[in-house]
Amino acid sequence: MQYFAQKLKVFSDEFNSKLKDLFPLPEGNEKKVVEAMYYSVANGGKRLRPYLVTKTAELFDVSADRAFITAAALECLHTYSLIHDDLPAMDNDDLRRGKPTCHKQFDEATAILAGDGLLTYAFELISSKKNEFSENVKCRLVNLLAQGAGSFGGMVAGQMLDLDSEKNENVLFPEMIIKRIEEMKTGRLLRFACEAGAVMGNASQDKYNSLVMYAKKIGIAFQIADDVLDVEGKEEEMGKTLGKDCEQNKLTFVKLYGLDKAKQMAKDYIYEAKDALAIFGAEANDLYDLADFIIERKN
Ligand code: IPE
Ligand code: IPE
Ligand code: MG
Ligand code: MG
Ligand code: MG
Repeated sequence: MQYFAQKLKVFSDEFNSKLKDLFPLPEGNEKKVVEAMYYSVANGGKRLRPYLVTKTAELFDVSADRAFITAAALECLHTYSLIHDDLPAMDNDDLRRGKPTCHKQFDEATAILAGDGLLTYAFELISSKKNEFSENVKCRLVNLLAQGAGSFGGMVAGQMLDLDSEKNENVLFPEMIIKRIEEMKTGRLLRFACEAGAVMGNASQDKYNSLVMYAKKIGIAFQIADDVLDVEGKEEEMGKTLGKDCEQNKLTFVKLYGLDKAKQMAKDYIYEAKDALAIFGAEANDLYDLADFIIERKN
C-alpha cells in the first residue's frame, strides 16, 4: 500500500506538471473562470482516474504520453463534477482537496461557470489535435465520455438519484437504489477510464469486456470506501468535510448495512474486480494494486 501510494505520487507529480500547460490564462477579464477552473483542478486530487486511463492504455502498449490528453480530459470532467457536487444547492461543502471549495474561494456563479468550463474543455481536449489518435478513436472516446458523464445512466443520473435519496426515506428497494447510485455517480467515470485505455489501445472485445467488468466492481467499491471514510476518515487526510452523509441523510451502503458489512462488501467487490483481470495475467499488476488501494486508502 505504501509502495502503491508512492507510485501514485510519482505519477501525479508528473501529471500535475503537464496539466499546467493546458491552462494558459486568457488576457481579458474572462480569465477569472480559467483561474477558478485551474484552482480546482490543479492540486490535491489523488489522480486515480488519470492513473487508471494510463495503466489500462499501457496494457495495450499505448504510452503514458500518448494517453495524457485523455487522462487530463477525464480529470477535468471529474473536477467539474466535484465543483458542482460541492455547491450549496447540492452537498453544500466548504472544503475540497484540502482547500476552500470553488464557490467559497471565488463565488457561486464563478464556480458554476468553472464547472461548465471544465466539462466542455474535456471534450475539446479529447477531440483536439493535441490528442494524437485517429478521428475514429477520438469520436469513440467523446461518445463514451458523454455516456459516462451524462443523464442517461451516467454520472449526472447518479447525482440526481443521490440527491433524491436524501428526501425519499421510504424507498421500496433501497438495496437496488443504492447500487444504482454508486454505479452511476462514481462508477461510470471510472469505467470510462478503463474503456478509454482499451479504445486507445484497440483492445479485443474480450479484453475490453474484462476491463469494463473490473471497472464496474472497483466503481462500487470506490464509493463504498468513500462512504466509509465519510464516517471513519480524518479530515486532514481527506481534505474534505466528513460526517456529511449522515447529516444530509444520504442513502449509502453504510447507512443501509452498517460499517462492518459495508467494508466486507467493498472487499468482495475488489476480489471480483481482480478476478476480472485474469485475462491479462501479471501485466495488470498495477491494476491489481490500484484495486487494493481503493479500499485501503486513507484519503
Ligand atoms: C471523490 O473522488 C468523489 C467521489 C466520486 C467519491 P476522489 O476521492 O477520487 O477525489 P479526488 O480526485 O482524489 O479529490
Ligand atoms: C460525489 O459523491 C460523486 C460525484 C459525482 C462528484 P460524494 O458527494 O460522496 O463525494 P464527496 O464525498 O463530496 O467527495
Ligand atoms: Mg454528493
Ligand atoms: Mg459531496
Ligand atoms: Mg462522499
